[in-house]
Amino acid sequence: MPSLTSFLVLAVDGGAAAGKSSTSRALSARFDFMHVDTGAHYRTITLALLRAGIPATDPDAVAAWLASPSALSTVLQGRSARLAINGTAPEDAALRTPEVNAVVSPVAAIPAVRSFLFDYQRAQVAVAKENGFAGLIMEGRDIGSVILPDADLCLFLEADPVAREARRRAEGGVDLIVQRDKQDSSRKTAPLTIPPGATRIDSTYLTLDEVVEKISALIRGLRQSSNCTF
Ligand code: CDP
Repeated sequence: MPSLTSFLVLAVDGGAAAGKSSTSRALSARFDFMHVDTGAHYRTITLALLRAGIPATDPDAVAAWLASPSALSTVLQGRSARLAINGTAPEDAALRTPEVNAVVSPVAAIPAVRSFLFDYQRAQVAVAKENGFAGLIMEGRDIGSVILPDADLCLFLEADPVAREARRRAEGGVDLIVQRDKQDSSRKTAPLTIPPGATRIDSTYLTLDEVVEKISALIRGLRQSSNCTF
């Protein structure tokens, strides 16, 4: 239950193209939450590996590269907190290319990659507080299960794969989302899973506004139960 000085922590998980980013961005604007897209973290590492010519799917080569000095920092762009490696936070367009889509899941399955990001991702709660946000909304695959298991609200977004494929195509993306979901759900370390106690929202037949309204009602409910006016 959130405290009276309620800083809210929201965990949003779900499969590829389930609407996590658009929903999280809308909620972040509505409630002044800092937004962290952890998928972008795995994409940033994947892009850096591709650019450095490291075989991205070779766990030993990747672990060796991660062990070389690489400083992680956070760049705030509006309410969005982006991961920078050695001072560089790539733009979204560079992170969402077919080349990155094709290898990001195998990269994210490498245990050394996940432990590399673990502390950084947890520390985002403090970053949001230090920067005066009313809360933090973090999206990914293992947020409610591994990174922020004590979140005030844990959500799992889902939608029919056909609807998700259509959404990704409408964004102009080339992406094998069903294949990525399979890889993400079957890996040993921090697989995509529905965290215990998560509120599941199926958006197959809902608009983005309807999903945002549903979650906003849950957030207001949390605020009321902690006697906070919002
Ligand atoms: O936007 P989309 O749902 O297509 O994917 P994303 O959120 O950008 O995540 C890209 C990939 O990163 C996923 O397919 C996972 O392999 C990985 N990922 C992860 O393993 N754990 C997370 N917390 C977030 C993403």
